[in-house]
Amino acid sequence: MNIQIYKSNQEAAVAAGEYINSYVRNNPKAVLGLATGSTPLPLYAKMVKACKNGLDYSGVTTFNLDEYVGLPIDQEQSYRAFMNKNLFSHLNIDINNTFVPDGMAQDLEAQCAEYEERIKAAGGIDIQVLGIGSNGHIGFNEPPAPFDSRTSVIDLTEQTISDNARFFESAADVPKRAISMGVGTILDARACILLSFGTGKAKALKGAIEESPDVMNPASALQNHPNITFYVDEASASYLTKQHKT
Ligand code: PGA
Repeated sequence: MNIQIYKSNQEAAVAAGEYINSYVRNNPKAVLGLATGSTPLPLYAKMVKACKNGLDYSGVTTFNLDEYVGLPIDQEQSYRAFMNKNLFSHLNIDINNTFVPDGMAQDLEAQCAEYEERIKAAGGIDIQVLGIGSNGHIGFNEPPAPFDSRTSVIDLTEQTISDNARFFESAADVPKRAISMGVGTILDARACILLSFGTGKAKALKGAIEESPDVMNPASALQNHPNITFYVDEASASYLTKQHKT
């Protein structure tokens, strides 16, 4: 595990952005796994800036981790709308090569299986971007999350619904289910980067890095990944032991 601690989320985003942008520079047909939420926004700003400065994203394919069930994509809270607004519309990427699970699909099980097949057909994911929930979730894999799970429909926990209520009029408007890549799907990526910012994530991050892997903290599954880098700000690193802070 590679743990990089920065003074601020902005500094962490610079480092994570350099990693992704240089990967794309060297691998114009890169397959990136992407995440939503507040955490990756400064990273996406770095990708957009690099593209505006000439980095070519036209050959890149992306797969998002998750999407709410039953939220039409023209609603701004849908993860497809979030990605279009915050990243895809600012890159010279082919929108047809950006994939987000279809939470409006008639047959959700078939949609999950199809998503797995699409990732496989693209040759797998080169770099998966991850956030972490205050309960340790990655994607929408809520605890307890088996480490070999595949893309599936997930019932969101009260914790996640309350964490995400800020994007909706009220907690009652947050969808109760989502499609999410599984933990096993995530672990198949050739590299993973997890961004964690703020004290709200500090406890989950400590569990993910320093406690024995446990399905009650899904991010702890990453301890078994051969190429995982954590980009963390000081606030999120506040519970880590000294050994991980140097
Ligand atoms: P956040 O969500 O970036 O909005 O904090 C992260 C997550 O729940 O994975």
